[in-house]
Amino acid sequence: MSKLFEAINDQINAEMFSAYLYQSMAADMEHKGFAGIAHWFLAQAQEEMVHAMKFYGYIIERGEKVTLKAIEAPETTWKDPKAAFEAALKHEKYITSRINNLYKLAQKAPDPATEIMLHWFIKEQVEEEANANEILAKIQLMGKTPDALYLLDRELAARPMLFTMPVTAA
Ligand code: FEO
Repeated sequence: MSKLFEAINDQINAEMFSAYLYQSMAADMEHKGFAGIAHWFLAQAQEEMVHAMKFYGYIIERGEKVTLKAIEAPETTWKDPKAAFEAALKHEKYITSRINNLYKLAQKAPDPATEIMLHWFIKEQVEEEANANEILAKIQLMGKTPDALYLLDRELAARPMLFTMPVTAA
């Protein structure tokens, strides 16, 4: 397998880890009484599984073999919602750097089909970072009073799930 396709295969793992990380954040926020924020993180975890499957499907479509590897354990606790969203933003920046690196590898190969496939992810990462930034900005504006966090929790409960799950937090 080429260096480029090995890196795409590794990205399946990074996206599945992202899903695991957000699911862990959901579990912690649920435990801390923020059911709406937990719901938002579960919806985010679903998006990450879709990202993983896009890479999975692309590897197969190109006639290569997918090789799944162990998924690292995520952290399990964050001080408060602000700390969780700060960690989410940091993680998304890391994922953006990985996608940009994949793009560089595709250019270097050269593999124009992979470059075009990655355009979707490059745009998606802008959105992913913007979402976390927007929520963090709201937390800054609202402050950490219980009333403000209650309102944020209610707002984030409205995020649509991508698909039905037997457990939805809100
Ligand atoms: Fe798959 Fe949140 O990037």
